[in-house]
Amino acid sequence: MTKEQTWSQRFESALHPAIARFNASINFDIELIEYDLTGSQAHAKMLAHTSIISQEEGEQLIAGLEQVRQEYRQGKFQPGVDAEDVHFAVERRLTEIVGDVGKKLHTARSRNDQVGTDTRLYLRDQIQQIKSQLREFQGVLLNIAEKHVETLIPGYTHLQRAQPLSLAHHLLAYFQMAQRDWERLTDVSRRVNISPLGCGALAGTTFPIDRHYTAKLLNFDNIYANSLDGVSDRDFAIEFLCAASLIMVHLSRLAEEVILWSSEEFRFVTLKDSCATGSSIMPQKKNPDVPELVRGKTGRVFGHLQAMLVIMKGLPLAYNKDLQEDKEGLFDTVNTVKASLEAMTILLGEGLEFRIQRLAEAVTEDFSNATDVADYLAARGVPFREAYNLVGKVVKTSIAAGKLLKDLTLDEWQQLHPAFAPDIYEAISPRQVVAARNSYGGTGFAQVHEALIAARAQVGEDSE
Ligand code: ARG
Repeated sequence: MTKEQTWSQRFESALHPAIARFNASINFDIELIEYDLTGSQAHAKMLAHTSIISQEEGEQLIAGLEQVRQEYRQGKFQPGVDAEDVHFAVERRLTEIVGDVGKKLHTARSRNDQVGTDTRLYLRDQIQQIKSQLREFQGVLLNIAEKHVETLIPGYTHLQRAQPLSLAHHLLAYFQMAQRDWERLTDVSRRVNISPLGCGALAGTTFPIDRHYTAKLLNFDNIYANSLDGVSDRDFAIEFLCAASLIMVHLSRLAEEVILWSSEEFRFVTLKDSCATGSSIMPQKKNPDVPELVRGKTGRVFGHLQAMLVIMKGLPLAYNKDLQEDKEGLFDTVNTVKASLEAMTILLGEGLEFRIQRLAEAVTEDFSNATDVADYLAARGVPFREAYNLVGKVVKTSIAAGKLLKDLTLDEWQQLHPAFAPDIYEAISPRQVVAARNSYGGTGFAQVHEALIAARAQVGEDSE
């Protein structure tokens, strides 16, 4: 871009081409163009409303900006590096279309409050999209959970068999994580949806602008109270990156479980061909690429959060060009979270099948009913710690004898403690072990039924 087209006459020579490339953000901030146009149209309308420009000029600017939008959508407007950034690109094209009046658009505005406005409009939109994707993901979890209340799956602590669970209960844990993710985004939105437009370069403007008017046109809930803060705040982006990181934490945990479950060691799920890939050399292989990619992409989202925090650390007031670096990580985070949510929703919804038979076997092949033996005695008056020690002993001798607890004879039980009666066998059957955990929020079937009803209500009530 030549000096006449961008900065003031103070500049005598054009930028070095390599520096122009280094300085330019158009290659990535073009992503903001729709929001830039909308923000500029609101600004133009406000300029006319406050008589800073005439009504007619306002209308010309708004119509011209609309034409830029159409040209962009039709692929006819493709600004290059010479435009520096999306804001200059739009203003330049507008001026080509409407003539000199185009040069009035930037009255009482700076690119600093402009880019802040664009980024918030973009993020507000993207958050809404991610929230509805979270709802779809939750819906799929609920559908599977409803089918598997009575399907049992080993539950783990330390990745060691601990106690059997209702598969629905296991899946509902992820539903609840997603619910908090959804709520977190709702909360973040409140601080994204504040207008910096009219903060000017840093200090406000000499023109009698109406910031509330533009905020209302753009559906912002509020306006920044301090102009310096308005142009340099990126808390809203950091908060979003935190919320996005937590979404990825949750997806990566589920992804890891699917990877484990699909392995030969677990065999809890089968991956369908539509969501698994083969190996280029080992013909027998079916790889869980989708959850592996989700697990891997989590790292890159965390990286963007870290980068944004470091960009902001120690940054003096107000705008500094460092802030141009906020965009690529933010855009990549949005795209990564959306792609990961979509892939995991498809994977769960149609890409994997639980192996019911194998799961039924899995819950009978271990000592995950040992706590229930201790509980059995404790319910019959034996102090729990004493009962716990007795059961520890019987687990040890059973392992040595190659037996499971269900294989012990009543005699053996009664030698251990006279309180054992024939109903011990029922008490330690996997189904009963699960059913008995009927405390609020537990895996007991009655609890899980209630939890499913509550979950349906959660997504029904406040879905947006
Ligand atoms: N492309 C710039 C950015 O993304 C726009 C704001 C430029 N402001 C300035 N004072 N140079 O941050």
